[in-house]
Amino acid sequence: MKRLMIKEVIASPTLDQEITVMGWVRTRRGNKAVSFIALNDGSCIHNLQIVADLARFSPEVMQQITTGASLAVRGTLVASQGAGQSVELQAEEITIFGTCDPNSYPLQKKGHSLEFLRDIAYLRPRTNTFGAILRIRHNMAIAIHEFFHKKGYYYVHTPIITSSDAEGAGQMFRVTTLNLDKLPLNKAGEVDYKKDFFGKPTALTVSGQLEGELAALALGGIYTFGPTFRAENSNTPRHLAEFWMIEPEIAFFDVHDNMDLAEEFTKHCVQWALDNCADDLAFLSEHFDKGLMDRLRFVLANSYERITYTQGIEILEKAIAEGHKFEFPVYWGVDLASEHERYLVEQHFQKPVIMTDYPKEIKAFYMKQNEDGKTVRGMDVLFPLIGEIIGGSEREADFDKLRTHAQEMGVPEKDIWWYLDTRRFGTVPHAGFGLGFERLLLFVTGMSNIRDVIPFPRTPNNAEF
Ligand code: 4AD
Ligand code: MG
Repeated sequence: MKRLMIKEVIASPTLDQEITVMGWVRTRRGNKAVSFIALNDGSCIHNLQIVADLARFSPEVMQQITTGASLAVRGTLVASQGAGQSVELQAEEITIFGTCDPNSYPLQKKGHSLEFLRDIAYLRPRTNTFGAILRIRHNMAIAIHEFFHKKGYYYVHTPIITSSDAEGAGQMFRVTTLNLDKLPLNKAGEVDYKKDFFGKPTALTVSGQLEGELAALALGGIYTFGPTFRAENSNTPRHLAEFWMIEPEIAFFDVHDNMDLAEEFTKHCVQWALDNCADDLAFLSEHFDKGLMDRLRFVLANSYERITYTQGIEILEKAIAEGHKFEFPVYWGVDLASEHERYLVEQHFQKPVIMTDYPKEIKAFYMKQNEDGKTVRGMDVLFPLIGEIIGGSEREADFDKLRTHAQEMGVPEKDIWWYLDTRRFGTVPHAGFGLGFERLLLFVTGMSNIRDVIPFPRTPNNAEF
């Protein structure tokens, strides 16, 4: 018989009909006459209650129905007398796919800490919490594709292996087939990359932006959505060594169009979660973050505050003068820490903030320079509890300025000559940004550690599973 998903069974129950469901046992309880099995198949947060009449099923079968065991159950769906569910399945036939030894199964009925679940990340998708997070993660990916597709922007796949450091920050993971124990050397005694797979040094990409720009300057509007890698040794609740980034890049866009797009885009994602993930959000807000729903609705209800970096520094300096203590110093030219960003968002404006016009020294070489000679048209979107969720800019469209700026910032021309060329062959004003997918998920799920919104986190000293 065809398997029904528990999601379908609960959403549109067909009472007094025979159905088959398949899933994993969450719990079993009961008495001498009857057993109640909570079955979950991952399709939604809800379990289906299975009622097994012990006159019908042998003790040998029932013994095997322990937490974690996998079953198919054929039976009749009836209205439930008990509290907690509206329907239940009167079992007629139970097939056990796999038993699960209760003595060695790490997931017990009692709630586990998030730290413990990270250690058993291979099993945590079976918990309510991670089921909810993974379903929301899926929904956010769909929301993102839907948003850009409707706008007429095309999804472009940029390479994962690259020979250029897009951000110029030098935090790349090397990709090589050379034998690290016996590196080939050239006459000067340096590593001979000509002998490496690509004939030159390569690494995992930190961003698809540069290639994304090439596509935007042909297709008009594009976005990338893929994994990116950063070997920064930041053991924080907001950094991963492998994370997913969404990078729209739009021709004929200036920094103001870019801000409008970023605001509309993030609001669309939040609205999508409210519309499509209600049960999972309700679970997470009840168990982890009572303020979650209000925060999501609040973002939708307010327009984001738009300020320049210089204005931001002034506000922070004023706060310090009035006695507010920050761990890190504040002065014009400093790269703001997340405590500063969060002060602006959570305490000063109490809404998301888009900050622009950063000192050029702290931003990447590709950002368009302002007339003042000191600042660039960068644009960061700062969110409550997260800090920076988006980083972007209008791009330098002028060949000479871009080339000079790249030189000043020590980006080798031999690595980006093709990127510079776009400014010689029909250059146009254009802009784009990068949204950290996991940072968006932190905001939407209310989780506080980025390791808990990606199935298998990669962080310093951790690449298990
Ligand atoms: O600000 P970033 O470094 O910007 C870029 O990479 C640009 N190329 C984007 C563009 O203009 N197309 O990174 C963009 C976003 C950050 O705002 C943050 O949300 C996320 O990526 N991010 C990280 N997320 C998790 N772990 C890390 N180590 C991250 N580094 C950046
Ligand atoms: Mg940034």
